[in-house]
Amino acid sequence: MSHNILVTGGAGYLGSTLVPALLEAGHKVTVLDNFLFKQASLNHVCHAPNFTVVKGDIRLESVIKPLLSKADVVIPLAALVGAPMCNADPVGASSINHDAIAMMLRLLSPEQVVLMPTTNSAYGTGDADNFCSEESPLRPISQYAKEKVEVEKLLMQRENAISFRLATVFGMSPRMRTDLLVNDFTYRAVHDRFVVLFESSFKRNYIHVRDVARVFLHGLENFSAMTGQIYNVGLSDANISKRELCERIQAQIPDFVFLDAPVGKDQDQRNYVVSNAKLEATGYRTSMSLDDGIQDLIKGFTMIKNMVYGNV
Ligand SMILES: NC(=O)c1ccc[n+]([C@@H]2O[C@H](COP(=O)([O-])OP(=O)(O)OC[C@H]3O[C@@H](n4cnc5c(N)ncnc54)[C@H](O)[C@@H]3O)[C@@H](O)[C@H]2O)c1
Repeated sequence: MSHNILVTGGAGYLGSTLVPALLEAGHKVTVLDNFLFKQASLNHVCHAPNFTVVKGDIRLESVIKPLLSKADVVIPLAALVGAPMCNADPVGASSINHDAIAMMLRLLSPEQVVLMPTTNSAYGTGDADNFCSEESPLRPISQYAKEKVEVEKLLMQRENAISFRLATVFGMSPRMRTDLLVNDFTYRAVHDRFVVLFESSFKRNYIHVRDVARVFLHGLENFSAMTGQIYNVGLSDANISKRELCERIQAQIPDFVFLDAPVGKDQDQRNYVVSNAKLEATGYRTSMSLDDGIQDLIKGFTMIKNMVYGNV
């Protein structure tokens, strides 16, 4: 069945991989984005008759209301993403990540479907064995994580909604992010050949950006069975520490060197093992392993290098 889907923030890291996948599956897709990073990340779908793009700010009711009225499915991705970006602009972060989402949920009718990405970073350290399921208590620390937890609560109060608590996403996407852990370490391995690790035994869960696109399609296809629920989304065989992650990168880039820092702490104190069993029970399977993603990133970073002030 074909849907009219509104994707806010559709030109971002997740959106620029998701939007082509939604179009390919036969849906009509409208993207609302303010193109904060001057990104031309949707050039490759402009030819598609079912693709519409609107430049605008999700905080303006006059912008979002007419777009919501035409959609039967909404995927809200627009945000200031990550704790550092929110710390740099806390007022902007609250208005975009919290207030604009609350307004959007208020403007929607109960029949409209919302598929929302949230984050598993709010699990903190899990139980005594650092284990977390969807039932585990949330202990958000940063403003970013706290507001994500708040909007998930608002989301789950309405009908016709699914929350996908995403693991740390990795892999190449038309709008690239090098601030995500796997992407960051692989970038450093390709261009610097070394990383210094703080708290190298701390574990996290990971998921490829293409599998994030696939989970939204899975949610749409299985909506009646999955609605009203929260699902962790990650690779069950990739609940691994920062040191183990570096070993996996080193297997593909043998001259990559990584060292434990004898002093200092990571600002990000996440340390957990996440269960993705609930999502897997709905029939969802990932398609890209961590090693596939590292290979994907090595090719990408052969083409991409930040070199604003350097000659090489
Ligand atoms: N990437 C991850 O690891 C991850 C994990 C969990 C959850 N998420 C969530 O997924 C969503 C997308 O994240 P991403 O990684 O694609 O980030 P991103 O920064 O690449 O994308 C955000 C997009 O929102 C747009 N945007 C920002 N402010 C806007 C505004 N006021 N109006 C309209 N557009 C605006 C930006 O231009 C950008 O295209 C976010 O809600 C994020 O919290 C991402």
